[in-house]
Amino acid sequence: MGRIVHITRRERFSAAHKLWRNDWSDDQNFDTFGKCANPNWHGHNYELFVTVKGPVNPETGFVADLKEIGDLLKSKVISKLDHKNVNLDVPFMAGKLTSTENIALAIWDEIVSDMNGLGCTLHCIKIVETENNYIEYYGD
Ligand code: NI
Repeated sequence: MGRIVHITRRERFSAAHKLWRNDWSDDQNFDTFGKCANPNWHGHNYELFVTVKGPVNPETGFVADLKEIGDLLKSKVISKLDHKNVNLDVPFMAGKLTSTENIALAIWDEIVSDMNGLGCTLHCIKIVETENNYIEYYGD
């Protein structure tokens, strides 16, 4: 087994959302979700970091082509999220609470099987929601 290197592609998207459960009272929603429950939506400038891992291909010196990973992310993820309403517009978030955690899980599911074709394995989905908050999912 050779050595394994991790590489990361960053993409960005801006989107609106609201954290809200229809099966809860208004008070319960505002108590739990605070400003994120604002009825008329709010937005974030999200940063998405997708980390993949694999051995270094001796011919190219790459683990995988980061441009190809970027193209995949643009077509399968960013084009569906950028300048959209995550609650209303995004097929892979339909019926889900639009927390950053759930967005990360959904992105993982959207792309995990594509990475083998690019010669690598998905390692981490990281989403930076604000300067102070980010979440990571490692597939567990
Ligand atoms: Ni928010």
